[in-house]
Amino acid sequence: MEHEKFAEHGHRLIDWITEYMSEGYSGPVLPKTEPGAVMAQLPETPPLEAEPADAVFADFKNIVLPNVTHWNDPRFFAYFPANHSGPGILGDLLSSGLGVNAMSWATSPAATELEIRMIDWLGQMLGLPWRGCIQDTASSATLCAVLAARERLADINQAGFYTQKPMTAYTSEHAHSVLQKAVWIAGMGERFLRLIPADRHFAMQPEALREAVARDVAAGFRPAIVMSTVGTTSSTAVDPVAEIATIAGEYDMWHHVDAALAGSAAILPEMRWLMDGVPEADSFCFNPHKWMFTNFDCSALFVRQPEALKKALSITPEFLKTAQDSAVENFRDWGVQLGRRFRALKLWYVIRCYGVSGLQAKIREHLRMATWFADQVEREAGLTLVTRPRLNTVCFMADSDERSRALMMAVNASGEAYLSHTVLDDRYVVRVAFGQTHSTFAHVEKLWQLLRRLHREMVTPAE
Ligand SMILES: Cc1ncc(COP(=O)(O)O)c(C=O)c1O
Repeated sequence: MEHEKFAEHGHRLIDWITEYMSEGYSGPVLPKTEPGAVMAQLPETPPLEAEPADAVFADFKNIVLPNVTHWNDPRFFAYFPANHSGPGILGDLLSSGLGVNAMSWATSPAATELEIRMIDWLGQMLGLPWRGCIQDTASSATLCAVLAARERLADINQAGFYTQKPMTAYTSEHAHSVLQKAVWIAGMGERFLRLIPADRHFAMQPEALREAVARDVAAGFRPAIVMSTVGTTSSTAVDPVAEIATIAGEYDMWHHVDAALAGSAAILPEMRWLMDGVPEADSFCFNPHKWMFTNFDCSALFVRQPEALKKALSITPEFLKTAQDSAVENFRDWGVQLGRRFRALKLWYVIRCYGVSGLQAKIREHLRMATWFADQVEREAGLTLVTRPRLNTVCFMADSDERSRALMMAVNASGEAYLSHTVLDDRYVVRVAFGQTHSTFAHVEKLWQLLRRLHREMVTPAE
């Protein structure tokens, strides 16, 4: 592609993205795509000859756009957000423009040093003065924590598990499956993962944890890691991190805190309680790509003792050695992958262009949306709030599982909003998660009117 063509097409794409961000998508937020429908429109073989970018863009509009789920549309309220922003897109664009590989300090000094500074900034915003790095996702961050915990107990990288007693891992029954997967990958075995019962607020019961650990020690197993969650995926429950830290300390276990969503809210002074007990843990991660307007992917991993992480993950073949190795940080030693994207750029853009107070204001508004929405649900006959939201997510039920499911499906089928579900206390629960960059109160009111109308039509079908 000629450079002038790149510029011409690039300007057009920026204009298109600007319109997409300001107007939202005109079609349904959740596409009604049948499996295979996109593939059917794509040629089975690659083009031999060059095609104009305009043709690719036309196909993007005709084939891709109607068949994507519009995660950044203001009508998206499913799962947790993956919110983007103008500044985040600009930073990401520059990262693509430079195309650097941030594996070592020497392969791009600014990438490493900006990343160090961004973790410092985030740490100040959260009151957590630890070192850390940017990972792609919370899944990778959890895997790193598990590998660090494993290696702290025994030299598994060299010896493998062959002669070792089993290592055990613990988390709440409501935690995300990221720990389960990390335990698989680390070779620790799911049979040795304990899902600790939660209380009526869906938070881990510390006494049940203590008992489970004591049982495992008595059986000759070695407790390696406990993961607390601050803001569970199903209901945004918050585990008692400080009490879990005490138990982890008693048994010399690694304590990882997964705050994938909720960490962003902890930058608000009134939400700083979310960080209670975290400084006593060993690692902490949250995703600016969920609720801090930093386009996917960007997960910040903080570690109290980075040496433990590096012991598990540092490897330096001859061809990667550089003259500065003893004086600098090489972030390839802090994670699974060698090659790394320059993610700090988008975070830098986001934090500078919003300012901390701008980020706080937007997140505060999302919290207000959740409270307002919960108030409406509470007042509506036939709907029941599962818990008062303390974060961005409202969980509620209709008067039967069938009706809850039907209500959610009807909202999603309308194309006017997208909700998701979970199961809590064996009941089918509808979740509404706020946190879109472009959602305003008007969108939230519209969602409520739609939901209320559909619910009332179900309860009292039209003659
Ligand atoms: C609490 C929690 N932990 C972990 C994850 C996994 O996040 P990622 O997609 O960054 O691996 C999620 C995803 O929603 C989550 O809600």
